[in-house]
Amino acid sequence: MGVKIHVANHPLIAHKLTVLRDKNTNSPTFRGLTEELVMLLAYEATREVITVSKSIQTPVAAYTGEVLAKPRPVVVPILRAGLGMLEGMTRLIPTAEVGFLGMVRNEETLQASTYANRLPEDLTGRQVYILDPMLATGGTLIMAIEYLLERGAKDITAITILAAPEGIAAIESAFAGRDVPITIVTGALDEKLNEKGYIVPGLGDAGDRLYGVV
Ligand code: URA
Repeated sequence: MGVKIHVANHPLIAHKLTVLRDKNTNSPTFRGLTEELVMLLAYEATREVITVSKSIQTPVAAYTGEVLAKPRPVVVPILRAGLGMLEGMTRLIPTAEVGFLGMVRNEETLQASTYANRLPEDLTGRQVYILDPMLATGGTLIMAIEYLLERGAKDITAITILAAPEGIAAIESAFAGRDVPITIVTGALDEKLNEKGYIVPGLGDAGDRLYGVV
């Protein structure tokens, strides 16, 4: 089934990304732009969200339309920077359930592990949307996807603001043979990673730019 990659191609997204990347953009503006970008990206990312038909009466006639199926999609921001994307996503799908995943990498073994987890134990049949602004090496996202697949997620879409080719390649090779649909929706595909693992040209450390250096 493989991994589907969707790189946004829209002048409004390009405009907002340019302001976001600018090192002179302050945190409040950065947070506002991130929210707006997530709403635009989520519009594309939810194209395959499951709906069911529902019969209603308009003031004029009987009508059968579509509404979101239950159980609702699960939105999972990856702590810390993914939190900056949550508001935009829940504005678009106010009834989504929200789970949280905090991930850290052991600097000796280079193995990622979860340090915080507040998610339904059973995700069987659920559509899951991961929020993580920067797809750099792909290590965190691979770990998060594995974690959600183990709990039975039916399909997984990751929404990122920026992605590096190295990260996309890592996700593709990790999940190429799996029979679960995995989609990456990103605002832009940048040039490369630098020696410190930052996306180039990128926007710097997304968590710091959202919330300041702690
Ligand atoms: N994480 C960030 O916040 N920025 C990068 O450039 C890479 C990973």
